[in-house]
Amino acid sequence: MKKVNDLLRSHLRDFLPYSTARDEFKGKEGVFLDANENSLGSVHQRPWNRYPDPRQHKLKVELGIIKGIQPGQIFIGNGSDEPIDLLIRAFCEPGIDQIMIVPPTYGMYKVSANLNNVGVIEVLLTEDFQLDVPKIVAALNERVKIIFICSPNNPTGNLMVREDIFVILNHFHGLVVIDEAYIDFSGANSWINDLTMFPKLVVLQTLSKAWGLAALRLGMLFASLEMVKVMNLIKPPYNISGLVQNEALAALAKIELKDRFVQQINVLKQSLERSLRSFALTIEIYPSDANFLLVKFKKSAEIFHYLISQNIILRDRSQLVLCQGCVRITVGTEDENKQLMAALNNYLKG
Ligand SMILES: Cc1ncc(COP(=O)(O)O)c(C=O)c1O
Repeated sequence: MKKVNDLLRSHLRDFLPYSTARDEFKGKEGVFLDANENSLGSVHQRPWNRYPDPRQHKLKVELGIIKGIQPGQIFIGNGSDEPIDLLIRAFCEPGIDQIMIVPPTYGMYKVSANLNNVGVIEVLLTEDFQLDVPKIVAALNERVKIIFICSPNNPTGNLMVREDIFVILNHFHGLVVIDEAYIDFSGANSWINDLTMFPKLVVLQTLSKAWGLAALRLGMLFASLEMVKVMNLIKPPYNISGLVQNEALAALAKIELKDRFVQQINVLKQSLERSLRSFALTIEIYPSDANFLLVKFKKSAEIFHYLISQNIILRDRSQLVLCQGCVRITVGTEDENKQLMAALNNYLKG
């Protein structure tokens, strides 16, 4: 079985990262004249003149407690889009290696691969949006270095069957990345619990969804110590600002608020789903373990544009494979959901 280091692009095996002043001296007290900061202070009220902790230690300790994992197994990125890009850059040789994606799924895996001139193998989900394991296994080859699986999946909303992911983990020589951006809404166990069994499993989560902190840009990667070392090796030195680290630390202390959001959003989702079911042009509402619903409408393009004219913006997903006639609807507040339903009913009358 290949190890993480065997999969790494060869030029990174003896790569020397940038060493920050804070990497070289880790003490907390002293006269710090080593980082060319502004010693007099900051033009802003807060003391932002010092560079932030490049390893986000405090934040990782708190996250480690919440997620039940040691801090060394956590990498923090500028949103989860940063670790997606870094994973591709670390493990895929441009023009030679490939990633595998399972459409319809989150768009950034392909965009990051394209940006890095890395090939993309696409194996469609089944009609019920599950992994097509025989086709995935048949399409694997030595050049595929990473499989991205989103669970719950964006835009379809469903969790992937655990047993299918186990088969892939057991068959595949490369990295299996499970993007759990929406896991909090699902009540399912995170794949973080399986990291000790699978050294090439990588789990992504984010503060952008259930925690309500999309503007902070804080994504998390959980993996083996070896994997996280690779990520630290190639990341930009100060990728998470001091402001974000402080705000995220304060937010993590309010986990019960996050749990309340999840509970409320799930109740609102059920009620939105009931309302949409009674709408005459609804063809299908797909089961969702996330904070959105994928809905197939008759005349979906017309409905989508009508809603825009009423200042209600959905995400048109009808161009995606297996999603013809579908829009993705984020669960709104009670009032927003009512406005949506009122506009849909007006469309019918008009
Ligand atoms: C499945 C999935 N992964 C990752 C992201 C990006 O999250 P972040 O805001 O942490 O970059 C999104 C955003 O919509 C998403 O749907």
